[in-house]
Amino acid sequence: MEFNIKSGSPEKQRVACVIVGVYESRKLTFAADLLDRISNGFISDVIRHGDMEGKLGSTLVLHSVPHTLCDRVMLVGLGKERDFRAKEYREAVRSSIKALTQTSAGEAVSYLSELTVKKHDVEWMIEQAAVVTLDVLYRFDRFKSKSDEPVREPRKLTLAVPRRSDLADGEKGLQRGLAIGNGMRLAKDLGNLPPNVCTPTYLGEEALRVAQAFGSAAEVLGPKEIAELGMHSFLSVAKGSVEEARLIVLKHQGAKDKNDKPIVLVGKGITFDSGGISLKPGEGMDEMKYDMCGAATVLGAFRAAVEMNLPLNIIAIVPACENMPNGNAVKPGDIVTSMSGQTIEVLNTDAEGRLILCDALTYAERFSPSTVIDVATLTGACVIALGHIATGLYSNQDSLARELLAAGEEVADRAWHMPLWDEYQELLKSPFADMANIGGRPGGSITAACFLSRFAKAYDWAHLDIAGTAWKGGKDKGATARPVPLLVQFLQDRADIALGNVVRRGRPRRETPEVVEDDQD
Ligand code: BES
Ligand code: MN
Ligand code: ZN
Repeated sequence: MEFNIKSGSPEKQRVACVIVGVYESRKLTFAADLLDRISNGFISDVIRHGDMEGKLGSTLVLHSVPHTLCDRVMLVGLGKERDFRAKEYREAVRSSIKALTQTSAGEAVSYLSELTVKKHDVEWMIEQAAVVTLDVLYRFDRFKSKSDEPVREPRKLTLAVPRRSDLADGEKGLQRGLAIGNGMRLAKDLGNLPPNVCTPTYLGEEALRVAQAFGSAAEVLGPKEIAELGMHSFLSVAKGSVEEARLIVLKHQGAKDKNDKPIVLVGKGITFDSGGISLKPGEGMDEMKYDMCGAATVLGAFRAAVEMNLPLNIIAIVPACENMPNGNAVKPGDIVTSMSGQTIEVLNTDAEGRLILCDALTYAERFSPSTVIDVATLTGACVIALGHIATGLYSNQDSLARELLAAGEEVADRAWHMPLWDEYQELLKSPFADMANIGGRPGGSITAACFLSRFAKAYDWAHLDIAGTAWKGGKDKGATARPVPLLVQFLQDRADIALGNVVRRGRPRRETPEVVEDDQD
């Protein structure tokens, strides 16, 4: 779909659909009010009849509104005006686009982006409208020989900004929104691809394509080179599969100073997790194709950051392999030596994520990173703890945890800070090796994070357990691209800090200080 930015009156739009907002208790937005006036109260009549009460997320499509030049006017409920915040705005945009796909309108002009949301500028309004729209319109049907239902995707969406002087900011917001949207699409596509297509080799090739498209440096190592690095923990997982392991490394040199310490993103890339010799039960095992969603989100966030050309040095590291049982597979009881030199007793071959990540974390040391964030569908226990709402967040640096929490909050991609206390480390004791790879069922997400922390001592580190948030089950099964929005927001905030932009309420602002808002109510 094509996006556009425009400033202009709703009644003058010669287009298939004009989208305007209506608050609860019959309050019209500025754009809705203009349409109401030109049509001699047509819209307020409809509202008076009770067909549109302004409830958040409700929509009503009107045809032939007098004296307008458009074919349709879509009214979108915004809820109570005083409760209208970022979350409500996103929700309204989401339902407007869903409703739009139910019409045959090929083009629309949306005035929702013209609204004001406290603490957010025009740029943000447009950015989020684009991100939400791309999210709603996403389909994964490339393996359907014919599509179930004809999906109607509008050809063109124009987002309105209040004033001509806002056009440039709107355009900037759009570019950012598209970059985030493209990163999310990449993450969803990789996640949704079947595991016979999305193999470690495929992930490597895809990473090279991303690097090539944006001129980033890239390196994809095979089993021999991985062995030479001493990553025997990583390779012990790959051993049971006929698919070769890959270690993917992408580099974005965006900082003014090329020697600036990089931010390293590490993503778990298990392209299929059967459990290995500690085989998983059969039911729902297909969902373990999503066990590379950490890798997918790291590649997606990297793509977005590079497309936005963020002034940061960013490195993405993805250890990728399958976890399969065969005669050569790692067995419970095996002891492996990690790249760090620490030995690991593999008590359960299904706790494989940490075995590949620990070597990637050690590898990250060579870049003298300022910060390392790993992202992994690491534990079922995290799903039990936090459900499908929050990502589990662990860190050896509280200020880093706070930054990530704030970034997630900002873009409705939330995480929850979990403990990494020493008492939990005890559970990883092994009588035969430096540590065991499991710590028992209680606190399973925490002991997994504790395991990783032993390999992340050289830098500020955070771990995101996305087992509950990376994909949805049920009838709308599919990858969510979480936490791409969180990661991109975090990087964006770091870029703002690097540029010396103002930090307000704990959150850096992109622009020079604006007029101070009146925060009285
Ligand atoms: N990939 C799984 C974690 C997972 C399970 C994610 C279910 C999403 C849904 C991971 O490799 C795994 O199998 N973890 C084990 C660890 C256990 C053996 C200590 C788990 O969570 O059961
Ligand atoms: Mn597993
Ligand atoms: Zn796994």
